[in-house]
Amino acid sequence: METTEPLLTVEGLNVEVTIEGQRLTALKDVSFSLDPGEARGLVGESGSGKSLTLRAILGLLPPNVQVTSGRMVFDDEEFIFGGSKHATTAKRLVKLRGSKISMIFQEPAVALNPVIPVGEQIVDAVMRKDRMRKRQARKYALELMQQAGIDDAETKIDAYPFELSGGLKQRVMIAAAVAGRPKLLLCDEPTTALDVTVQKQILRLFTRLRDDLGASLLYVTHDLAVVAQLCDSLTVLYAGRVMEGSNDLRAILDHPRHPYTEALLHSTPDIDQISRRLYSIPGSAPALNHQMSGCPFAPRCEYRQDDCVVAPIPDMSDIPGREVHCLHQVGSKPPPDAIREHLQLDRPEEGAP
Ligand SMILES: Nc1ncnc2c1ncn2[C@@H]1O[C@H](COP(=O)(O)OP(=O)(O)O)[C@@H](O)[C@H]1O
Ligand code: SF4
Ligand SMILES: [Mg+2]
Repeated sequence: METTEPLLTVEGLNVEVTIEGQRLTALKDVSFSLDPGEARGLVGESGSGKSLTLRAILGLLPPNVQVTSGRMVFDDEEFIFGGSKHATTAKRLVKLRGSKISMIFQEPAVALNPVIPVGEQIVDAVMRKDRMRKRQARKYALELMQQAGIDDAETKIDAYPFELSGGLKQRVMIAAAVAGRPKLLLCDEPTTALDVTVQKQILRLFTRLRDDLGASLLYVTHDLAVVAQLCDSLTVLYAGRVMEGSNDLRAILDHPRHPYTEALLHSTPDIDQISRRLYSIPGSAPALNHQMSGCPFAPRCEYRQDDCVVAPIPDMSDIPGREVHCLHQVGSKPPPDAIREHLQLDRPEEGAP
């Protein structure tokens, strides 16, 4: 059987933030991989470490945040975090940015240059990658803007960022990120601020990028319906740790094993309540300075037992391609029908684990 080498492997990523002189763990032992052309969803409540994970891969962290250890292999190049190799890793990551890896941020202001017309910024991204004449690149930029759901792109192409609404800037940033035809696109809730029609257009654009160019996506979202539409695989984060992960999206949505995944699947709002609402699982995630032993989800877990709070929880999964950090793997209630409908899932496959 033919095996594909992953485009991206992240192993044992540990990240610390320094707040008022105190070093706190923000990501602990985060691992996953991504094949060429694969789209992996990264979900979890606010503060679970999704943005930090993307930023660590891109080497774009604020000064008070450090990747203390871990290893990443991207496109056959190895990057070691922490220790003596750390400084060269940081330099080498800069070179990937905007060429082989692009990121779409939650906040478009971060990514756009305020003093350059938006079209020119897209054209620059196109020309960095492809040897095209400027006129041809501009035509391609216009196409990308239209595909990103910008009406009247002929006018908007010469506008400065401040002349555009937040939603339009977001779409420009998406067009610019796609223009460089990256091998890996890191998406941080890119459609959360956009209406449903535009969101659909953007998802089509991502799907095309993936199908036509074989690009991989790491896609952070609150909306499991987006994951269900776009992704092949899923990683669930909580308190900076992977709770559950699966290379097979259907398997994890139909048959969750971790109580946190189960809770997320049962709290996804149905469509008429508008999918942007945040999850509402009783209780709240622990603060970074909260001392925990054992399972971080224990205070909110309805299946908690005495042994759950004794020691860190290893991966207990016996299914290949699946990771489950729960001693008891009891979060097995499949989502109810209303949520299945929202996620556009058909009936669960019988007999699967
Ligand atoms: N620059 C920073 N300084 C201090 N704490 C931070 C910083 N960035 C993120 N954090 C903290 O790290 C945790 C994870 O943050 P983040 O990755 O942004 O979460 P998410 O994207 O899942 O909402 C949160 O508790 C957040 O407050
Ligand atoms: S390890 Fe225990 S507390 Fe944690 S999710 Fe599993 S059952 Fe719940
Ligand atoms: Mg975030």
